[in-house]
Amino acid sequence: MHAIGVDIGGTKIAAGVVDEHGNILAQTRIATVADDPASIDASIAAVCKELSQEYTIGAIGLAAAGFCSPDRSSVQFAPNITWRDYPIAANVRELIGTDIPIVVENDANAAGWAEFQFGAARHVSNMLTLTVGTGLGGAIVIDGQLVRGGFGVGAEVGHMRVVPNGHLCGCGHEGCWEQYSSGSALVREARAAAIKEPAVAASLIERAGGDVSQINGPIVTAAAQDGDELSLHLLSELGRWIGEGAASVAALLDPEIIVLGGGVAAAGELLLKPAREAFLEALPARGHRAEAEFAIAQMGNSAGIVGAADLARR
Ligand code: BGC
Ligand code: NA
Ligand code: ZN
Repeated sequence: MHAIGVDIGGTKIAAGVVDEHGNILAQTRIATVADDPASIDASIAAVCKELSQEYTIGAIGLAAAGFCSPDRSSVQFAPNITWRDYPIAANVRELIGTDIPIVVENDANAAGWAEFQFGAARHVSNMLTLTVGTGLGGAIVIDGQLVRGGFGVGAEVGHMRVVPNGHLCGCGHEGCWEQYSSGSALVREARAAAIKEPAVAASLIERAGGDVSQINGPIVTAAAQDGDELSLHLLSELGRWIGEGAASVAALLDPEIIVLGGGVAAAGELLLKPAREAFLEALPARGHRAEAEFAIAQMGNSAGIVGAADLARR
């Protein structure tokens, strides 16, 4: 059965027709008005209609960056988009006018599921995937099963408190892991450095056309790849936060592999190496237990599409 997977991002919606082996047969994307739930619904409907013209579709999966209801029909809350008890599946169904199943899945669960089925974690039964982007998302697979929790909102690892009285988070609390281990955290630190130490940040400022507010994740990654000291340092600090937090998750779940995905994973070894080192330093009972492997996600930009489609047909 072919299913459509829709990855709902902050600035764009990407969708694809996915077969049972995780192959994308057709793909499309559309820009969105950031943070307007109604126009996001309309864009989702538009891409689904477009993709349904040439393929027979059995199910639609929507990957959304928030806390999803256990019946997979609505987004109860999202830290970085104003979805509040939002019946996204019903809205899209009405706009498309279809009877096929439409389900909403947490975006990180979808991406991690794609890695588990078809990507970096396909050889294990116990996995943690972290998606490092606007937020920090988590996907947990234990004994081959995706962990959704008792009420649908499990695996929200980005909101574990790692710093008492730390940075304010979109979830309403302070010091969440996401505030230290996301693309947003990377950008916040890069911009702060550019303001405090413009000479040290000269390369970043130049790449941003002289406008500190234009510094973004891809700019920091590109500068680091060109050997910019500050950018290498920023990525390695981000890696440290990721690795240390992952060691706490390992204390709880003992995964065989920790996969890093999301936009910032494009930094590859520059992020993976410090993450792996910090993980091993912080791992409880190190030397007396097996050590989880660290890997960069293999499904790239299409992880959310493939995972959402695959989960929708189950
Ligand atoms: C949200 C998660 C989401 C993650 C990545 C977090 O802020 O709470 O639901 O998976 O960001 O988008
Ligand atoms: Na999740
Ligand atoms: Zn939070």
